[in-house]
Amino acid sequence: MALLAGVIALAPVLAQRGAPQAPKGPWMDKSLSPDQRADLVLAEMTLDEKITLVHGAGGFGQAGARSNGGAGVVEGIPRLGLPDLQLADSAVGVRSAADRGRYSTLLPSTIGEAATWNLKMAWAYGDVIGRELRDQQYNVSLGGGVDITREPRNGRNFEYQGEDPVLAGKMVAQFIQGLQSNHVIGDVKHYAFNDQETGRNIGNVLIGKRAARETDLLAFEIAVREGQPGMVMCSYNKMNGDWACENSYLLTDVLKKAWGFPGFVISDWGGTHSTAKAALAGLDNEEPGNYNLQRQDMSFFGPALKKAVVDSNEVPMSRLNDMVHRILRTEFAAGIVDDPPKGRVVDPFRGADTAQEIAEQSMVLLKNAGNQLPLNAATVKSIAVIGSHADTGMLSGGGSAQVDAPGSGPSPWGRPVWFPTSPMKAIVAKAPKAKVEYNDGADPAAAAALAKSSEIAIVFVNQPTSEGSDLRTLTLPDDQDKLVSAVGGANPHTIVVLETGGAATMPWIDQVSGAIEVWYPGIRGDVALANILFGDVNPTGKLPVSFAKSDADLPHPEIPGMAQIPAAPGRGRGRMQPFDVDYSEGLKVGYKWFDAEKKDPLFAFGYGLSYTTYAYSGLKARIDSVTFTVRNTGKRAGAEIAQVYAGLPAAANEPPKRLVAWERIPLAPGESKTVTLAIDPKFLSIFNEEKDGWELLPGDYQFFVGGSSRSTPLTATAKR
Ligand code: BGC
Repeated sequence: MALLAGVIALAPVLAQRGAPQAPKGPWMDKSLSPDQRADLVLAEMTLDEKITLVHGAGGFGQAGARSNGGAGVVEGIPRLGLPDLQLADSAVGVRSAADRGRYSTLLPSTIGEAATWNLKMAWAYGDVIGRELRDQQYNVSLGGGVDITREPRNGRNFEYQGEDPVLAGKMVAQFIQGLQSNHVIGDVKHYAFNDQETGRNIGNVLIGKRAARETDLLAFEIAVREGQPGMVMCSYNKMNGDWACENSYLLTDVLKKAWGFPGFVISDWGGTHSTAKAALAGLDNEEPGNYNLQRQDMSFFGPALKKAVVDSNEVPMSRLNDMVHRILRTEFAAGIVDDPPKGRVVDPFRGADTAQEIAEQSMVLLKNAGNQLPLNAATVKSIAVIGSHADTGMLSGGGSAQVDAPGSGPSPWGRPVWFPTSPMKAIVAKAPKAKVEYNDGADPAAAAALAKSSEIAIVFVNQPTSEGSDLRTLTLPDDQDKLVSAVGGANPHTIVVLETGGAATMPWIDQVSGAIEVWYPGIRGDVALANILFGDVNPTGKLPVSFAKSDADLPHPEIPGMAQIPAAPGRGRGRMQPFDVDYSEGLKVGYKWFDAEKKDPLFAFGYGLSYTTYAYSGLKARIDSVTFTVRNTGKRAGAEIAQVYAGLPAAANEPPKRLVAWERIPLAPGESKTVTLAIDPKFLSIFNEEKDGWELLPGDYQFFVGGSSRSTPLTATAKR
């Protein structure tokens, strides 16, 4: 009885949160297709109900009792059995858990996920997020960042997947698949060319169609075709004169027509700029709706859209129906109507185990002079651990991708958050007999003195990055280069651990014996790192971005628009004037830039060392596949990420090479494997602007195979 009373008392609350009332309509027949089901509900909907579905009801708690605490809510239609859409940021884990006393797993940043080059890890990554979204009663993810690293100083690179469109697209597609397997709607963002944060709400990206389709848009194309996300989020910036969220080229011509995307487009938060123009261009849902209650003008898809449909006929009813159909068919396809999330306690252990596995595969060994690593736990006598809060924590990325740290309240926007995972403790656990001492690195001389008196020195350096701002430079902040030089000068066995959002410069690289890139390594980054340092795990990660020697070597030595932001710390940047972001480098993104410009990077795309070595042999190339053999020539088991690049016929006028395939090949010591990798003709094609389509040119195609973009011992030519 008491139980029944409790259920009755709860009923109004659930109804208010949009929990569907026992729906009876024919659209609940699961044997029908999502499109058929969507049409059946649509036929029942009133105009007001349709309008309700195409905009949010306010972000971050503005939706009151209906909000689940996430970034947005789209009110459902209980009488038709349509649930509220509860949207949560979830780029590297589910955001805003602290507010409601919940917990979410912090995964390694997605640039680290990309460094695994392992599609299974990408799937597992999405699976953790999908599961934890559901546990926390969200049914829509705002993750899936896939803007390519055109600008290595972009503050959000940590939540994207690197500089290569094929790698980024394929990885994010698996991420989406893993996520959506939990009956949660997945999203890819920020569509498109939001490749820098500087002036993101004001900058106008200039880029030609061919370069656009072969670079940034190719990553999205692969993500959309292979990942089948329910949603695509359009970005804040303009592209070739039109805001991305009212850009008919991006939203309709390319996304919906050329790629056949059946889902819906939502705006980034406050990224809608018009009613009719945006609706006609292809935007389907405005978020977060009444963004700013004082500025009702920011709501374009509420009463204003109703007026545009009914009074002025600027937006035909057929277009409104299409918007609603897209949302409904996505709800049915994702399973959120048939299998709504039920609240559950997040399993922190399961999440952490996956986070650790991804972290272990994400870390990239950059330098290992004299086989400095792995350390021998049985013999090492003393270790100096220096810098970057290594005694207490490891860094995470800021902004809407920020996950709240265990034991902390809501995270401050954009300020570095250190997760309470101490690499020093993990090192002590591995080598309990060694004397392990910490110095915070504030005084390089004191740090050097400790290093000098220790057998091994491990210096931790950091590069905090966040949504909302970019790095002015790839130089590490806070004079950390000086610290590393001082320590490297004092101890010949110095290993640098980099906790960065992406690339960093390393003027001290010749003064240290080891370097390892760990990105922002997630909730078990400490253990993963210790496993690599002591050889329990053989590193396999390879760089998904090029590391430049200096800012001067980048396509844009200074970020466009950065000159308008005062160099002094603090955020008082005032109102920026509109400006163009001219991607004149076009096709030459990342390694393609370094190759075409004949510049040597500090560390090349695809590069990463292991504790064993591999030999490549026997390349046979056809236009549609390559076969080659990799042998583990060392004494440890490992996994080599073998990469295949193609050089197109001269008439294509392309950068020297592009990634077309790869495979992660586990190998026991002495073992050889011969692999055959299919080559997708799309990845050998160029985009022909006149024909508005992809074209595979006749001629000689060169294939380069090896362990990085700059180490390709095998070459062969195939004709087409
Ligand atoms: C970000 C999006 C995010 C949204 C909601 C925006 O500022 O660009 O990535 O999903 O806010 O928090």
